[in-house]
Amino acid sequence: MTENSRIPVAGPSITELEAKRVLDAVTHAWYDDANRPIDDFETAFARYIGRAHAGCLPSCTAGLHLALAALGIGPGDEVIVPDLTWIATSAPISYVGAQPVFADVDPTSLCLTIDTVAACVTPRTKAVIAVDLYGAMPDMEALAAFADESGITLIEDAAEALGSEIAGRRAGSFGRVSVFSFHGSKTLTTGEGGMLLTDDPDLFRRVNVLRDHGRRPGDRAFNNFEVAFKYKMSGLQAALGAAQLERVDELLEGKRRIHRWYKDGLAERDDVSIYSSDNAGVVWWMTSAHVSPETGWDKDRLQAELSRANIDSRPIFRPLSSLPAYRETSEAARARDRNQVAYRVSPWGINLPSALALTQADVQRVCDEMIYLIDRRIR
Ligand SMILES: Cc1ncc(COP(=O)(O)O)c(C=O)c1O
Repeated sequence: MTENSRIPVAGPSITELEAKRVLDAVTHAWYDDANRPIDDFETAFARYIGRAHAGCLPSCTAGLHLALAALGIGPGDEVIVPDLTWIATSAPISYVGAQPVFADVDPTSLCLTIDTVAACVTPRTKAVIAVDLYGAMPDMEALAAFADESGITLIEDAAEALGSEIAGRRAGSFGRVSVFSFHGSKTLTTGEGGMLLTDDPDLFRRVNVLRDHGRRPGDRAFNNFEVAFKYKMSGLQAALGAAQLERVDELLEGKRRIHRWYKDGLAERDDVSIYSSDNAGVVWWMTSAHVSPETGWDKDRLQAELSRANIDSRPIFRPLSSLPAYRETSEAARARDRNQVAYRVSPWGINLPSALALTQADVQRVCDEMIYLIDRRIR
């Protein structure tokens, strides 16, 4: 960015390679070649994550909807989600007529733990959607073992966690099914888009029927066996995604660098901490800060002042159970009593600008402005 231009909170890195691949797709990927970019992207992405099957979708939200539908989750069932996440994690539970149950999170990773999940399990619990928040990951092996013992299906929402690893396995390789987002704000983008992955061939077959209006894969007879959904990605987007995937190491290094710059820029502060992890495998999609409540700078005030200084930011998610969409429900009332950590940390957390286009000077400008605000301005 130039010295005074607005610093964006999120955004991709696009090069000539992406432009070339999309031009090639728009020129050639039609007729018999129409599916080529999609097949190529799905194959490469499945290989990168370490999963047997991958399906391109128009969004990650569609992926969660398909996962729940393919698993046969519906009315009368409960699905546990973290209280701190984007509503896209929980909305699809309502799409299939089931009930979201909001669990508390760990104060460091902001992700689910076995204890917070266990506190929400009832005889109606069918699944838990574990979110890799901002790139951090819960103890997936422990959660998977707990889910197994409890007869619950684990779904991994890895929308924000491309490239993160835990216990030597990549984000998106856990659970019966996992999903990613390729929204324009994500580390790897297709503009809008998502991917569903699984190792289960039967489940993947079911997903493929559900995502194509109830047609069997390869159907040319326009024969629909049930009323289902139309959740497809275009070949042009898939060509962009495949090109981004070729550059994945560079994209991840960009995110790691931004996190390091913030850690260095705010290292001297006792009253602002950057969310970090003992797990060296985390790649922070969004670097986030926790501002000490003693400063008086809650996230809404801080964001407003940063915005005046031409700096975009985002609030750490508000607990789902506090949102107008849910707050009048009895489940939200229970969650508000139960989820002490989510309610304690949320007011004091912001996502700092983490766009791949940022330079070290941009990050320093954000750090300097935060320090200036906290030290010198009215409380
Ligand atoms: C944790 C989480 N889950 C799901 C989604 C949904 O992704 P999409 O916008 O591709 O539907 C997002 C998107 O930002 C997300 O952050």
